[in-house]
Amino acid sequence: MSKIILTGDRPTGRLHVGHYVGSLSERVRLQNSGLYDEIYIMIADAQALTDNAEHPEKVRQNILQVALDYLACGIDPEKSTIFIQSMVPELTELTFYYMNLVTVARVQRNPTVKSEIKMRNFEASIPVGFFCYPISQAADITAFKATVVPAGEDQLPMLEQAREIVNSFNRIYKCDILVEPEAVLPDNASCNRLVGTDGNTKMSKSLGNCIYLKDDEKTLKNKIMSMYTDPTHINVSDPGHTEGNPVFIYLDAFSKDEDFAKYFPDYKNLAEMKEHYERGGLGDMKCKKFLNNVMQEFLAPIRARREEYEKDKEQLIEILKKGTQRAIEVSNETVSEIRNAIGINYFNDKTFIDKFVL
Ligand code: TRP
Repeated sequence: MSKIILTGDRPTGRLHVGHYVGSLSERVRLQNSGLYDEIYIMIADAQALTDNAEHPEKVRQNILQVALDYLACGIDPEKSTIFIQSMVPELTELTFYYMNLVTVARVQRNPTVKSEIKMRNFEASIPVGFFCYPISQAADITAFKATVVPAGEDQLPMLEQAREIVNSFNRIYKCDILVEPEAVLPDNASCNRLVGTDGNTKMSKSLGNCIYLKDDEKTLKNKIMSMYTDPTHINVSDPGHTEGNPVFIYLDAFSKDEDFAKYFPDYKNLAEMKEHYERGGLGDMKCKKFLNNVMQEFLAPIRARREEYEKDKEQLIEILKKGTQRAIEVSNETVSEIRNAIGINYFNDKTFIDKFVL
């Protein structure tokens, strides 16, 4: 069986280093592993509209930003198909058929939907489209017969839902067209989530605590230098906490042993540095300067690649057009099989006319 990846992001903002650590780096790694036959990366604008119906411009503005972020991080359009969700009407059609296979109670139990409803204060007025987005996500995944969905932990209930739909469909329509997807979580579990620069567990645009992949050298430095650290670490000589300390959480995610030799030769590795911080005697300023060096080095090639693609907008649009065209072709084949299985491919079905009895 082919190994096929599908994953994506809602284009509601530029991507930040949390996205990189949580998913982008993993995608690039899987892409370059050569183990996958097909890779689809979707800009989920239709899903973004499920809770932004009144702000389509917010979604619109971020489509090219997200595409550039992908390319900047090393998603290679020769190896991965990048496409725009709403431009593939087949996904909407599949969603419509799948809706009949899922109960309202089942969607209500979805923990991700539950917490997102709370977060958005939707309790009294949940848009139907938003409520149905797990079903639409199952359509995204199955349209490409994806076997693997690299995603964060918060997406696990979505995959569970998708598998249920696959099984219901294949059972009810007596076929084996749809394929059960499997989640792949990032390798390094401790890196699953980066905190905001203010120590908040969630990095979000509205909190203003994100480091964006697009941040220039100066912006990045300012953000790191004003990062929240350990509030009990007042004097340099005081013992400090590294756990829950954003500077160390970022170092955990980004620093390598080589960085120490290059930028902080007082220590061989992060363990030694942490030990000194915890013992007391290592100041936050020094830690931040080191983190700045590490992050500048990490972001430099990403920024450079982004600039290259930014210069050639036509090429960027061409990449998205080609990707979307391919996504339409592939999902159209699945839709056709689905229509056959349900028995609603009327005009391509000889028995529809022949077996017609008055
Ligand atoms: N739910 C994902 C997000 O919030 C985006 C998404 C839409 C997705 N469809 C998908 C992810 C299918 C993986 C597979 O970013």
